[in-house]
Parts: sequence; C-alpha cells; structure tokens
Amino acid sequence: MVDSIAILDFGSQYAQLIARRIREAQVYCELFPWDSSVDQVMGINPRGFILSGGPASVYTRNAPNIPGYVLESGLPVLGICYGLQALTHALGGRVAPAVEREYGPADLVTTISNPLLEAGSHRVWMSHGDRVEQPPAGFQVLARSDNSPAAFIGDLERGYFGVQFHPEVRHTPRGEVFLQRFFLEVCGARPDWTPESILQQSIHRVRQQVGNGRVLAGVSGGVDSSVAAALVHQAVGDQLVPVFVDNGLLREGESRQVLSAFQQNLGMELVVVDAREEFLTRLAGVMEPEEKRKVIGETFIRVFENRATKLGQPDFLVQGTIYPDVVESRAADRSKVERIKTHHNVGGLPPDLQFELVEPLRYLFKDEVRQVGEALGLPRELVWRQPFPGPGLAVRCLGEVTRDRLARLRAADEILIAELRQAGLLVLEQKGDELRGTAQAFAVLLPVRSVGVMGDQRTYQEVIALRAVTTEDFMTADWARLPHDLLARVANRIVNEVQGVNRVVYDITSKPPATIEWE
Ligand code: XMP
Repeated sequence: MVDSIAILDFGSQYAQLIARRIREAQVYCELFPWDSSVDQVMGINPRGFILSGGPASVYTRNAPNIPGYVLESGLPVLGICYGLQALTHALGGRVAPAVEREYGPADLVTTISNPLLEAGSHRVWMSHGDRVEQPPAGFQVLARSDNSPAAFIGDLERGYFGVQFHPEVRHTPRGEVFLQRFFLEVCGARPDWTPESILQQSIHRVRQQVGNGRVLAGVSGGVDSSVAAALVHQAVGDQLVPVFVDNGLLREGESRQVLSAFQQNLGMELVVVDAREEFLTRLAGVMEPEEKRKVIGETFIRVFENRATKLGQPDFLVQGTIYPDVVESRAADRSKVERIKTHHNVGGLPPDLQFELVEPLRYLFKDEVRQVGEALGLPRELVWRQPFPGPGLAVRCLGEVTRDRLARLRAADEILIAELRQAGLLVLEQKGDELRGTAQAFAVLLPVRSVGVMGDQRTYQEVIALRAVTTEDFMTADWARLPHDLLARVANRIVNEVQGVNRVVYDITSKPPATIEWE
C-alpha cells in the first residue's frame, strides 16, 4: 500500500486543488466529505490529515466539526482557513468574526522559526471572514499578517498546524513548498505514487474485481475511455472486448487514428460498430442542444446493448470516470447546483443496466490518467490531445445535424487545427504570467447565412465561428489571443477551400459568461 494523506472537505471551492498539489508531488491522497465514516477515511491508512476551508462559521449551530478520530489518531494535522478555525475551536482556542473580511493578497511575516515556512515576508492569498483571536493551549503564532494576528499557528510537539491563508492556490507562491513540507517532512509520507505504481495498483484492483468475468469497453477516442480500455486490457487480456462505436460525429481522420493507435501500439483490435446512419437518423430535425445530448446518449446505449447481446452478455462494463467526476458529482448531489450542460459520462447510464461497472480511473486526476496512458504505451498524440466532448461535432454544428453540414464543419475544423499545429499553438504553455497556445480550439458551424461576394458573384452562405481558449481547469476560460496573421490565414483558407462557407468570425468571449462549447 502506498503512503497517503486524508483531506477532510468542509465545502471549500479549493478542496480539489489541495488534492492536486499533493498528487503532483507523487503522494497519494483522497478527499472525503468531513462527515465520512471513520472506516472510510482510516481505510486509506493516512500519514496525516488536511482539513480544508469551507463557508461555515465555527460558532454557528450545526457547524461542521473535526471528527474525534482525527485528534485521537496522534497523526499530524494541517487546518486551512475553516480547517484552522475548526481546529482552534476543537482544542479550546477562540475564533471570532474579523472586523473586516480579508479577501485577496496579504503579506505574511514569520514570527517563529518552524518546519513549514522560512523566516521573512511572504505573499499569500486570503479569503475569510472569521479569524483566530486566541490559539489553543500548546500553540504558538508562527506568522502573522496585518489583518490576521494568528495567520499561521502551530503546536510543533504534536505536529498540529493551521493557516488562515490558502497555500493550495497559485496566488500563494510559496504555498506548494509549504504543503510539501507538511506532508513529506512532518507527516513523513513517501512520494511513491508514480505512474508505474498507479498502474500496478489499478491493474491489481481490476483483476480483483473482474476475476474470470467478461468485460466490455466502449472506446470513443477520447483520452479517458482509451486509457481505461488499455488498462483493463493489460489487466485481463482477452477477457476484454473493446468496442469502438463510430457515431459519425468525429473529426476528420479521427476514427482511423484511434484504430491504428490501438493496433500498432498495443496490439489491440477494436471491434468497430459503424453506427453513423443510426445516429444521423435519430438526430434528424433535432435542434435543441440538450435534446441532441439526450438523443446521442440514448442512441449510444442502444447501439451498445444491441452489440453486447450479440457478443454474449458480458458481466462488466468499463467506464472512464475520473476523480474530478466523482468529487464533482458528490458535490452536485449535496448542493443540487444548477445544471448548465449534461455531460453524459457522469450518471447518464440507465438504471436497469445489466452490467457491473469497472471504473479503473476513478481515483485519478486527468494528468495522472495521461501518465498512465503513456506508461501503457499509448501514443503521445492520443494521450495529450485536447478534450473533445462526448456528443462530438453535434454540439458544434448549430441547428440541424446533417451529413452535408457535418462535412462542412469537419473541413473547416481540419484547417484550423492544421494551422494551429503548424504554429505550435495546439498546446498550452505558461510563459511568465501569460498562458500561450490553446487548451481547446475548434470550429463551429452557425445556422445563419450571410451575404458575400466571390469572383463578382453574390454568395449567400453559412458562417464558421472559430473558438480557441486558454484554461487550466475548463471551469473558467479566456479566449486565446491568437496571432492576427494566423487568424487571417485560417479565415482565408476556410472561405476558399470549404464549399458553402463565405464568412469566418472569431469568438472573443470568456467563460463565464459564455461556455467553451457553443451548445
Ligand atoms: P463548456 O462548454 O461547458 O465545456 O464550457 C467545458 C468542457 O467540457 C466539454 N464538454 C463536454 N464533454 N460531454 C463531454 O464529455 C458533453 O456533453 C460536453 N459538453 C462540454 C467541453 O468540450 C469543454 O472541454
């Protein structure tokens, strides 16, 4: 078993970031809702605890508190923001509302030498209303800021620490080192969560679950479903039947690339189901985005069930669910957040499903999925490619999805992608404070026509919108500042080479208020 850290989540918007910082340092950790059972949390055999921030105040009724087993375990604890306040409250210190809420950058000055923060002044990110007025017995103030006299406190004997600021966000430059010192040095967790060990552990889990059963996997060509299928194949070999459903909504050359990636790199033959006609027929006349998603999701399952019966009913079905899907659907269940778009890889399967699910990526973040994909031998182009939505080109072909319109969209998209690749802008790079390149870039076909003039002839044709964004997490995004000459070249080529398009526009809205996809 690898070493691990347990994060108790008190409802922080940054909880996933804490987990990512730990995993990035190759230490395994899991996020648990603060009121999870002791067996669940202690089941990962943690070396220490991190208590996240959260919106509550410790002195209100029914405020979440630190479960008894945390302090009884004798393990080190780091409380962040609400976690600090809850720790202070639990150990007999005093927390009160601050005179002013503190939100944004602050300067922290170290007051006592300690294992987490060196002497000096440090820029940190604050976001809180309450603050610690009096640390519990045994604690010292290790650093203070103007507005928080006890911004960082600790009991060095017991390995208990609490910070008012957020070390997990990028706006706290020394935050990463600070956290690492806690879980590596204070907790003594070994950094043994490497791609190789992740792979071994995942294979072991799949073998245990599946035994001699037969497994079916749907491969869409996306990163998650490809890595999941490759991993299960590595674990149970020919017990797996990997099925590639060609829904006709993929980009130019994509289905060919996927098949050859599996065949050449892994020696895996995918069973191809050509369902292009079926998808197009069911999508005929469907204009509304959520309706398109629903039709595609249902058609996918129908095609799949149909095929599964022909293959002799399998016992298991592979799903490429990844850790953020798990954490976010848990959070969504709790707060019933408004549904903006249905992402059908989460919870979209019918309740009368005849298979048991195998989810080999359930505990992995996206970058870990990619590392595992590489360790399995999948090609870099497939493993590192930009995300592509499950409903494919259907949600980029605004209005009706027809064969002709898909062909137009595909041709325009291919030109954009080729030019971006040529310019080295199909990847995202941090250059100083700026993100260069694109995290996601594509063409969208609009359901409007505009007037143009080509070779003295009036034209009345459709419009292509280009969308390219920079983002780290796809929750917020900015439009990519692509070079003007590149945009000019792309527009020129699309109008000249793609039949039926006479105008190209560039989308300059960020998310929010827009979303990345147009539907
Ligand atoms: P939005 O458009 O909501 O998209 O800003 C955020 C990210 O999610 C992708 N996306 C989807 N992925 N099924 C998927 O698997 C979907 O229905 C879907 N809709 C959007 C989108 O491409 C972007 O990366």
